[in-house]
Amino acid sequence: MLIEAEGIAVAIGGRPVLDGEFVHCEPGTMTALVGPSGSGKTTLLHCLGLLLPVDRGRVLIDGKDVTTCGSAARRRFWRDHAAFVLQDYGIMDDESVAFNVTMRSSPLGRRATGDGRRLAQVLEQTGLAGRQDEAASHLSGGEKQRLALARAIYKRAAVVFVDEPTASLDAANRMKVIDLFTEFAANGRTVIVSTHDFEMIEACGVRHEIGSGRISNPTRAQPGHQR
Ligand SMILES: Nc1ncnc2c1ncn2[C@@H]1O[C@H](COP(=O)(O)OP(=O)(O)O)[C@@H](O)[C@H]1O
Ligand SMILES: [Mg+2]
Repeated sequence: MLIEAEGIAVAIGGRPVLDGEFVHCEPGTMTALVGPSGSGKTTLLHCLGLLLPVDRGRVLIDGKDVTTCGSAARRRFWRDHAAFVLQDYGIMDDESVAFNVTMRSSPLGRRATGDGRRLAQVLEQTGLAGRQDEAASHLSGGEKQRLALARAIYKRAAVVFVDEPTASLDAANRMKVIDLFTEFAANGRTVIVSTHDFEMIEACGVRHEIGSGRISNPTRAQPGHQR
């Protein structure tokens, strides 16, 4: 899915946070939203994911203006097409790791259901192998973030919104996570990442600097090229 912002502006508490951002996020590409802390990366990510309304400008999905679409259409987008790996995780602490990944339980009990093989595979990929029956509340901050990632992989969503995925990870897991998102994009998904991690930015095909002016043609990053 093609996700675009056309000149979007957002003020929070009367203070302008975004002012005329143009972003173009293509399928098969990982787009980095880049800027210093407080520059509005998370805000822009939330606008693109239809989690936050804009004050000005337009958000488009596959060329269709969804800036003022209703809550039913937004929910459909979240349910059927999008996965979110956000800083506040969106993890249900009282539920098992397995339920948090598959988001399905049996009608008669609290046992998580879904595709067991795929569940085991994504837990393995995210370093959470064997932990499906634990309550999510047992996990550390970094593990919860990997759990959100496991959910996104399991869902095979067309668009993946990711907020600072490597911020609380050690070096080994950072590289693993960067590789996973690179693979998402290589599989044709639209991956949008807010980050100030140099290696994560390097892995992105397109880099959008917040507040860099009215860019309609964002810089194409050169893989491996030092900036
Ligand atoms: N809910 C909020 N209430 C008040 N200010 C906010 C809120 N969300 C974001 N901001 C402000 O908007 C600016 C951009 O925030 P954010 O998008 O989180 O930046 P980044 O992700 O780049 O660190 C910051 O100055 C932040 O304090
Ligand atoms: Mg942020």
